[in-house]
Amino acid sequence: MSVDTAFIEAMPKVELHMHIEGSLEPELMFALAKRNDIDLPFKSVAEVRDAYQFSELQDFLDIYYQGMGVLQTERDFFDLTHAYLEKVAAQNVRHVEIFFDPQGHTARGIAFETVLNGISRALEEGEKEFDITSRLILCFLRHLSEEDALDTLEEALPFKSKIHGVGLDSSEMGHPPSKFARVFEKAKAEGLLAVAHAGEEGPPAYVTEALDLLKIDRLDHGNRSLEDAVLTRRLQETGIALTVCPLSNLKLKGVTDMRHHPLKKMLEAGLKATVNSDDPAYFGGYMTENFKAVTEALDLSRADLLTLGQNAIEASFAPPARKVELKAELDAFAG
Ligand code: ADE
Ligand code: ZN
Repeated sequence: MSVDTAFIEAMPKVELHMHIEGSLEPELMFALAKRNDIDLPFKSVAEVRDAYQFSELQDFLDIYYQGMGVLQTERDFFDLTHAYLEKVAAQNVRHVEIFFDPQGHTARGIAFETVLNGISRALEEGEKEFDITSRLILCFLRHLSEEDALDTLEEALPFKSKIHGVGLDSSEMGHPPSKFARVFEKAKAEGLLAVAHAGEEGPPAYVTEALDLLKIDRLDHGNRSLEDAVLTRRLQETGIALTVCPLSNLKLKGVTDMRHHPLKKMLEAGLKATVNSDDPAYFGGYMTENFKAVTEALDLSRADLLTLGQNAIEASFAPPARKVELKAELDAFAG
């Protein structure tokens, strides 16, 4: 069956799982390296793309942290975010929830404010230019200590009006959610929403910990949840959404073949799954490419695609009035 390309392209979409540093395309990487007088260990864009062969999450993370080294000034963060919005505007993406990794920058001597101001200014201007609304989620790097995360939260609190939630990302194995229980408790007490990467490579027990100890409002990835029947039932009953990233899972070998991707099983189990791009510059595509890949491999129907779109609206952190607008747009599209 051929993929429903026109339908996927035209469907109004909501993205809930995207690391802004993971939208750094090699072309922009080179431009920023030049602007900031930084030497890259690659000679060409083609050489960079050739290096994007990963056998697990850590392979990717090593190159991802290296790549973000070209981001130095507020303008760099603005340009990065603006480029992402421009890309997804052309894909009929209508609302985005963006992760950023401040510790990946402050550890290199870049001020927290430089990062936040560049990204948030692009989001504000992007709303006018592209008619895309947004939310910003600060992620803690789980390979670092909880003290480091607590310091980062303290640094972020004066800017709370620009940040809607906290998340947990980076190397999952060996860094369970329990390591960050105190920092999430503090963030929630400050009124921030919580998400966490869990069950991407890590076991279902990490997902359970994220629910019990971090009190997450949404689950990032969660693919391995299906291995645990009790956990699957809990996700069904609570309706907590999963932000699934098909091309990421393929590139990082969470699945060896897209035809084995768990997304369809999640939908069949009544889980609130959504489709997202994770790190689009590294994994071969933005929202439309992710929808196309998974639709083709799993033979998803138009009804499945609309369910995925609807799930993303419901699971978003957009204000209620914006959710009503997004739902109306999707309904109008569905006809
Ligand atoms: N940081 C950026 N992308 C990530 C992913 N897929 N998993 C964990 N940390 C990440
Ligand atoms: Zn991610």
